[in-house]
Amino acid sequence: MAGNLVCVGTGILLGGHLSPLAQNLIEQADVVFSGMSDGFTELWIEGLAKDVRSLQQHYADGKSRNLTYNEMVDAMLCEVRLGKKVVGAFYGHPGIFAKAPHEAIATARAEGFEARMIPGISAEDCLYADLGLDPGKTGCQHFETTQLMLYQRRIDPSALLVLWQPALAGDLTLGIRPTGSAERELLVELLSQDYPLNHECILYEAATTALHSTRIERLPLSALPQARLELHTTLVLPPSQPLTPNSQMRARLQALADTQTQGTPQGATVLPFSRKKANSP
Ligand SMILES: C[S@@+](CC[C@H](N)C(=O)[O-])C[C@H]1O[C@@H](n2cnc3c(N)ncnc32)[C@H](O)[C@@H]1O
Repeated sequence: MAGNLVCVGTGILLGGHLSPLAQNLIEQADVVFSGMSDGFTELWIEGLAKDVRSLQQHYADGKSRNLTYNEMVDAMLCEVRLGKKVVGAFYGHPGIFAKAPHEAIATARAEGFEARMIPGISAEDCLYADLGLDPGKTGCQHFETTQLMLYQRRIDPSALLVLWQPALAGDLTLGIRPTGSAERELLVELLSQDYPLNHECILYEAATTALHSTRIERLPLSALPQARLELHTTLVLPPSQPLTPNSQMRARLQALADTQTQGTPQGATVLPFSRKKANSP
């Protein structure tokens, strides 16, 4: 099959985060579909590629985002079926909280076309860098805010919590308009089952151009309903509790380690992994 599809991430910072591989694919494509968050980035992509088509036109007030994503997939697939080299360029990472690129790739593959994804620098990556947080320190949970509200989930308040699309909290229409303070009050009520109301939250917006600055606003959980939330805001809740040691598992691991040491000849080193030769039985 002649046509193919590559979904690339352009990163968050205009002109600063695009990988050489993604740039090369954009420049070589017959058609680039641009799923950017702002007009500046779209203009920049237009300067790189020969045929750029915006996917923004598919969003509309009062229209379900699911319908929008289906239309985006159809638009990209139409060109692939015509035998073209198609690139879907999406801001951030094309596979993180982004439905259309995943679906377009799955559909193209199911129809026998070559399709792949090239990662990009996500808002998540920027968040760790700008806020000085390491997800490995306590573990990290990521939820889409409305999904967290609509399903029974178990939050671990000893780990970092990152909530995506908080501006759309509680939106049942899958729309693109921020919800109001009433929905956010329900979100606060839900979060207050695991966090004290005075727990410090962070509203985070990574800078998207050199002209913009990064927003890092700290506020108590109780102030969330009145806070300014943009569509590109991410809500971060640092842990409110220390890690609780699992004394049972520690004891069992210690017993295991003791047994293994007893079986080891004196002076021999205990290696964490087997170093058997690959062809040994
Ligand atoms: C549909 S998701 C797209 C995420 C994107 N694929 C990525 O990799 O960053 C949109 C959400 O990403 C987060 N986001 C997007 N741009 C951001 C920015 N500049 N700073 C912080 N968070 C951002 C917000 O939570 C926003 O509601």
